[in-house]
Amino acid sequence: MAKIDEDTIRQIKEANDIVDVISSYIPLTQKGKNYFGVCPFHDDHSPSMSVSREKQIYRCFTCENSGNVITFIENYLKVSFVEALDILAKNANINLNIKKEVKDLPNKDLYDIYEIASSYYKNNLNSAKGKEAMEYLKKRGLDKETIDFFDIGLSLDSGLVDSLSKQYSLDKLKQIGLSNSSGKDMFRNRIMFTLCDIYGNKVGYSARKYTENDEAKYINTTDTPIFKKGSMLYNFHRAKDFIRKEKEIIISEGQMEIIRLHTVGIDNAVALMGTSFTNEHLSLIKNMKINVVLNLDQDDAGKRATIAIGDKLMENSIMPTVILFSGYKDTDELILAKGKEAFTEAYKNRVSFIDFKLNYLKNNKDLKDSSVAAKYINDSIEAINKIDDNILRELKIKELSKEFNIDESLIKEKITNNKVIEKKEKTNVVVKKVYNKYDKSELKILYFMMIDPKIIEYYENNLGYLNDDNRKKLAREIINYYNKNKSFDLSDFICYTTLHDDLNSIMKEVLAFNDSDEYTNEELEDYCERIKELRIKKQIDLLTNQMKSSLDKEEKKRIAMKIENIKKEVLKW
Ligand code: CTP
Ligand code: MN
Repeated sequence: MAKIDEDTIRQIKEANDIVDVISSYIPLTQKGKNYFGVCPFHDDHSPSMSVSREKQIYRCFTCENSGNVITFIENYLKVSFVEALDILAKNANINLNIKKEVKDLPNKDLYDIYEIASSYYKNNLNSAKGKEAMEYLKKRGLDKETIDFFDIGLSLDSGLVDSLSKQYSLDKLKQIGLSNSSGKDMFRNRIMFTLCDIYGNKVGYSARKYTENDEAKYINTTDTPIFKKGSMLYNFHRAKDFIRKEKEIIISEGQMEIIRLHTVGIDNAVALMGTSFTNEHLSLIKNMKINVVLNLDQDDAGKRATIAIGDKLMENSIMPTVILFSGYKDTDELILAKGKEAFTEAYKNRVSFIDFKLNYLKNNKDLKDSSVAAKYINDSIEAINKIDDNILRELKIKELSKEFNIDESLIKEKITNNKVIEKKEKTNVVVKKVYNKYDKSELKILYFMMIDPKIIEYYENNLGYLNDDNRKKLAREIINYYNKNKSFDLSDFICYTTLHDDLNSIMKEVLAFNDSDEYTNEELEDYCERIKELRIKKQIDLLTNQMKSSLDKEEKKRIAMKIENIKKEVLKW
């Protein structure tokens, strides 16, 4: 991992005011000292996210996402900590020399192996042995620059496993999908399209045959510790900045579409690498709050996939648009034959998914046959029912009613009856945690310790512990931080907690639970008493159990006395 010292992190944070940064992505409104906006991290329409200029933190009171300006960028743009720093440094004209994050996780060597493999494949393509493959790529209209840009290479009969096994075990090479079970190269004589994770680390391949033979057209890396096919979106790491700027993502089927679109200057596109659209894909897109353009193949499989993806998006309150054209199977072929203009034209004429779907439902149907028409109408109502936008839904109801000359009220009756609306409402609700008085007291104390150092001292003098282990640990870290820095900066402290999972989740709870910085001394005392009360309750429970399970009469008596004493002590205060 590129090491960046704490001072640099602090400097970058100071140069990027959190309110300015967040409001460049989502609208914020000032209310009192704080700013509020619709939280981009869960499905919501009301402003449950608060941003504090004073504390330099943001937090959502509903979904508990919280942090400082760096974690906001990480979460919002789906980038790593280091990438987030890089973005913020650039924002503030601070020179930060990080090439690229290399993970220092247990999997570091797996990423290293993929780096080596990719340069090996690239070399092959540029060598004499790569002549035929290169010609194939040229014939498909890809120049040297594009081939390089997308890290396209070539696998040979053999060679990769031989060379890698000098440095890495065969088991490891099998585990990460570069060697097959008999120790041969997994990919042989294929054009290698490098696949990267969302951070840009190389993690797999989609390998295409380039000569006529009976083998499968593509072979892909299967799941490994660093690669999950189901969450792969080809080109996402390169496209994400463009997607964010244009507030739009174009989703295609294959990598050749993406490469072709890049050659004509369209860079906000990603490919599913097939037709299945998973929940991982969905959540990646949902969090970004962007327009979705579906650009799948124009054949029947592509249309069916468009329906399935569009349905899933609509159920999540996203109404995509659909690109349609005829005469060509996919965008790669269209642009190669007719140029960028043909695609731009199709893009301009793209249709709303609901229109696409209603049209698709109608295809090849004899609507003069009343039972066929009835089925079409019912299917259409079901589709209309999923529309999130009231006005659009109303328009579509009117259209349908006119088209078949049926009463609007009849359609509407079915609309309100449908369960889809209910289901949608349910997914919108993030269930807020319910805390009892003991939990509340601990969460309050922790929060006040972080916003007022006096309470740190108060905690040490009057309490010194919390009943929950992780909360106690957080309290300890707050004290350590304070002792080390002689002051407490919440937003800076968050840099530390985000690195520790157990602290991080407690921190989020604490921030989401507390929405007021005001407290009275009585309140504090009350929290302390609750916390002590729980500790004593726990002690008594423990002793009672011991007493019950003890067989020795004398011991039972002794424990009973102990319990009595504790109870007496409590009565004193
Ligand atoms: N695919 C796959 N396995 C296959 C066929 C396809 O994994 N046997 C994936 C590939 O990622 C491919 C995508 O599905 O890019 C779309 O498939 P298809 O439309 O058949 O391929 P094209 O993208 O048109 O590829 P090409 O233009 O190279 O034929
Ligand atoms: Mn194609």
